[in-house]
Formats: sequence, structure tokens, C-alpha cells
Amino acid sequence: PTPRIELADKIEHLKKELNAVILAHYYQEPEIQDVADFIGDSLQLAQKAKGTDADVIVFCGVHFMAETAKILNPDKKVLLPDLQAGCSLADSCPADKFKEFIEQHPGHVVVSYINTTAAVKALSDIICTSSNAEKIIRSIPEDQPIIFAPDRHLGSYLIRKTGRDMVLWPGTCMVHTLFSERKIRQLKIRYPDAEVLAHPECEERVLQLADYIGSTAKLLARVKESPAQRFIVATEPGIIHQMQILAPEKTYIRAPTEGAACEACSECPHMRLNTLEKVYQCMLNGYPEIQMEEELRVRALRPIERMLELS
Ligand code: 13P
Ligand code: SF4
Repeated sequence: PTPRIELADKIEHLKKELNAVILAHYYQEPEIQDVADFIGDSLQLAQKAKGTDADVIVFCGVHFMAETAKILNPDKKVLLPDLQAGCSLADSCPADKFKEFIEQHPGHVVVSYINTTAAVKALSDIICTSSNAEKIIRSIPEDQPIIFAPDRHLGSYLIRKTGRDMVLWPGTCMVHTLFSERKIRQLKIRYPDAEVLAHPECEERVLQLADYIGSTAKLLARVKESPAQRFIVATEPGIIHQMQILAPEKTYIRAPTEGAACEACSECPHMRLNTLEKVYQCMLNGYPEIQMEEELRVRALRPIERMLELS
């Protein structure tokens, strides 16, 4: 056996020994996805974390996702293979500045994207993900003003979709803002049969070129449902691994980024900090572990539970 297979075997063994479950986001390295017990989008991963009876959750994703799993499971050990795996959206919205922002807009319902720290969640009324955001916004009475944070592109997309006028926090995703409208247009001319799939964190000019917009799980489901045989994928390319498993006969093209041609440019540098080796090491050592003060956890739990009830 090759060393990678040996590593995967060792992870499998530790999984049983620890009564652990491995949850992975679609943006993880393919070899991490292959050892996971469950692969999903942010909402599905939160739902899965809530329902698990494992003693240990190995969260292969970024910090806010593992933190959400911990908020939902205070008595379980939640491991994140690399504690530095952050998120530019969560980083764009520090809790102290967000508190001031909320105070400047009294009477607003605060809807926060799951890509936020526990401290920002604790300041929010309800959490959403890209797969349920529209439903959550529509559940808020028409006359109720809304703050939406931290992704302004997802926020603008929701304003266009729902007609609701929301106050937006000016955060962006460092990956989804890289896609080049100009180069996607060129690709569409070269492959007129291709369907453009885009995540709503992309800029409006990219979303305007998209044939289908959705969360990672929805984009994945779309490749199976769609009659198209070729797709231009405007999201983190880790998802193409599951697309190839789900519909292997179809062709997937990474949406190009602006600047010099670069295959890896749309890979999320935070997500990609996790490696198969680090997954093994964290299970072996019981570290890095997500820790949280109980008082903060309880405050952050309330808006997450509101989201899960509505989802
Ligand atoms: P999804 O909820 O669609 O999986 O998105 C998570 C994310 O981080 C997008 O960049
Ligand atoms: Fe955050 Fe963007 Fe990476 Fe998703 S792709 S984890 S939003 S930086």
C-alpha cells in the first residue's frame, strides 16, 4: 500500500477507537473528503453535528464551522486539524465593531451568515447559510428593517431576490471575489453548451453570467439534474471532486480568476490548511481542540437554533 492509503487506514482505525465522526466541507482536499463519514455544505454540516452520537467530531473545514459544531455539542470533543484555518468573511467582522454597527441601526433584526465568529453570532438574532438565507429573510415580517452581515455580495443577491432593503456589512470572501467576469465570458463563447454554476458570494457581475446560483450542496445537486454536459464552476474547486463522483460522464471547468492563468488560485487558502496528515495527527493527539466559554456558547446557540428550527 502507498503511504496515503496507510494514512487513511490509520485514520479509519482511530475513528473506531475514539468513536469519532469525520465531517468535511466540500472545499476540502479530495483525499480528506474520501476519509469523511459525511460531506456537506455549511447547513448540512451543522445539522449533522447536532445529530451525531459520536464522542469526538473531527471537523474538516474552517474555524467557524468547527465552532458551530462545538456550540451545538458542548460535551463533545471537537477537533479542527489546523486551528489557523479561518475565513476572510469571519475576519472582516470583528465583534466589537459589529456591536457598534448594530447600535447605529436601532430596531433592526440582525441576520448573520454562519461565516462569523461565535462572538458575532451572540450579537445576532438569527443565523443563515447560503442554502437557507432567502427563506430566513422571507420569514422576517415585511415592515421589519434588517441588518445582514458580513457578506455584502450574498446580501446584495438577497436584496435582488427578495426585494427587501437590508443594511449590509461590507465583508467579502477572498476566494469568490477573484473570479473573472471577462474570462468567464470568453469561456462561454468557447463552450456555448456549458452551464455556469456560481456561489452567491461571487460579485454581481459574475452572478449575472450564471445559469444557476446556489450553496455548495445545491450546485452539486444541479450537476445531476441539469441536462448540460459541461459546467463552468464559479466556487472553490474542491467541490468538483464530488461532482465527478456524482456525474462522472460530465465535464467540469474551474471558473478562471483575474490575472495570470492559475489552477490553484480559486482554492481557499484557509480550507486548504487542513491536510490528511493533520487529520491523522489531530486524532492521534486529541489536539487542536475547539474550546469555548459556556456563557458565550449559550448566547451564540440561540440564533443558530432559530435557524435550525426554520430549516
Ligand atoms: P456553503 O454553505 O455553500 O457550503 O458555503 C460555505 C462557504 O464557506 C462558502 O465560501
Ligand atoms: Fe471563507 Fe471564502 Fe474560504 Fe468560504 S471560501 S471559508 S467564505 S474565505
